[in-house]
Amino acid sequence: MNKKLRKAVIAGNWKMNKTRSEAKSLIEELKPLVANADCDIVVCVPFTNLETALDASKGSNIKVGAQNCHFEKSGAFTGEISADMLVEMGVEYVVIGHSERRQYFGETDVTVNKRTRAAIDAGLTVILCVGEMLEDRELAITDELVAMQTKIALNGVSKNELSKIIIAYEPVWAIGTGKTATSAQANEVCAVIRTTIEKIYDKAAADAMTIQYGGSMNAANAAELVAQPDVDGGLIGGASLKASDFAVIIDAASK
Ligand code: PGA
Repeated sequence: MNKKLRKAVIAGNWKMNKTRSEAKSLIEELKPLVANADCDIVVCVPFTNLETALDASKGSNIKVGAQNCHFEKSGAFTGEISADMLVEMGVEYVVIGHSERRQYFGETDVTVNKRTRAAIDAGLTVILCVGEMLEDRELAITDELVAMQTKIALNGVSKNELSKIIIAYEPVWAIGTGKTATSAQANEVCAVIRTTIEKIYDKAAADAMTIQYGGSMNAANAAELVAQPDVDGGLIGGASLKASDFAVIIDAASK
């Protein structure tokens, strides 16, 4: 209904893929393909590729994001990277709470909230991931679970700060499986998230919130997904690793 208030955001989540030279080639190939896009474009790359991605995308409409950041500013947290470290490099976006972080690295709703808070404080825009497992969907608790994940993640985030948040609805059963949610399923849960934002904040905040779908979005199904009234773009894993596929998705979101 208020889709025209929002600009679509297409973000690539490269996960643990691409060496630095591959990252440079992929971005160089992507740049001319998406130069006239009418949506925001982000590539979320491994930490080791950030500098390369920032260099390669300079002067283009491609923004760079990281895939995680720690909630403390500094200290004895071996293997972690702070939000300030990312900002100093020129990184503008960060993915927080991806289901792979939740499943394999002990991320909880509480640590997702802490990381979100730290990222906003540092000035990053957060791509905040929520989504149900297959068991949750089978138990018919998707709506409650996703609402709860959203509420906990946004605890202590003010209405003004919401302009620095993008929410990505990613059903875990659809990630990397080739099993996309139907456009109706994707829209239904994105609408639940929007209603949750309205309940916590207000209607204006809900109308302005960018809510992406993610999970096996590809060049063939993107147009239908991003055309849904509550779906404002996508978070794309596998299909973001090929410039031509990612460009088709960006084109679909530009219409
Ligand atoms: P996929 O990953 O597009 O490969 O399913 C999406 C994601 O995990 O963000």
